[in-house]
Amino acid sequence: MEENRTKVVIDCDPGTDDCFALMLCIKHLDVKGIVTVGGNTGLEYTEKNARFMTELCERTDIPVYAGYDQPMFGKAVRAAYAHGATGLGDVIIPEPKKQLEPVHGVDFLIDFFMHNDDVKLITLGPLTNVAQAILKEPRLCKRIPEILCMGGSGTAGNFSAAAEFNIYVDPEAAKIVFESGIPIRMVGLNLTRQNNMNMKDVEAMKAIGNPVADFAAAILTHNAGKGGVCSLCDACTVVWYIDPQIIRKSLMVHVDVETKGEFTRGMTLCDWRDYMGTDPICDIAHEKKYDTTFAGKKEPNVEVAMEFDADRFRKLLMDTLRSYGA
Ligand code: BDR
Ligand code: CA
Repeated sequence: MEENRTKVVIDCDPGTDDCFALMLCIKHLDVKGIVTVGGNTGLEYTEKNARFMTELCERTDIPVYAGYDQPMFGKAVRAAYAHGATGLGDVIIPEPKKQLEPVHGVDFLIDFFMHNDDVKLITLGPLTNVAQAILKEPRLCKRIPEILCMGGSGTAGNFSAAAEFNIYVDPEAAKIVFESGIPIRMVGLNLTRQNNMNMKDVEAMKAIGNPVADFAAAILTHNAGKGGVCSLCDACTVVWYIDPQIIRKSLMVHVDVETKGEFTRGMTLCDWRDYMGTDPICDIAHEKKYDTTFAGKKEPNVEVAMEFDADRFRKLLMDTLRSYGA
């Protein structure tokens, strides 16, 4: 059974929605390692939260590594407004017994991908560790077969009008990764905004009645509890490897990461020029309309997720929580 599962390493910054992604990956994928990065909150919390998740999901055999806390340049930006100071809203977790591996996360990434051929990399936080690994060992660009990245947007941002949080935190790192030549699948906010979890989902999770589902309900309450809705961006991303039909449509386009713009730093600038439609509501058509040869036009380098099956996602998530048993 385990042999047929997609093999992955996950780089993440848990983070409420990262925790949902971990619950899904641990159950459905062959997770070879979890590397943590500073992002939603500081590394001292993200690495602890990742260790806790391996205990909650009863998979303490999965190694957890700590990578970088700070972005390559500038001051760290955190997302306490969304995930609370500890990354888990107001949910208090016990100190995990599970220990960190005694190796820096970047050194693990290098060593692992230099010696394994068929393992994909999932990134759910700022791309600091991956960029640092590429700088330290450039041969990784030919060794990592694919990156599935939660980051960016084909349309509007969240942290700024232009930029999504993960890319905004460390745009230089994102630029290195997006220009590395490693095939990239990008799940941006244009996709994740199609998913809206709410308090009805919290109630359904509570009704399952096992520790993983109870924890899921508690952290979702933090985001959906004040009458809001929650996209669970990182969970929407990992399902591309678990049940690809949930991502109903994707397009290959060229994506550049903006690092200098006065208003657009951290933006993933997608070249939609071949897809411009005439619909005033949604002017990016989902089928190619032109084959332009604009001066300086670059080859597509990223597969961008476009359409999401929210019902199928919700079913997968609930079935997964149920499968963790009592
Ligand atoms: C992304 O930023 C973080 O707050 C989430 O964990 C997700 O990875 C969404 O913009
Ligand atoms: Ca994240």
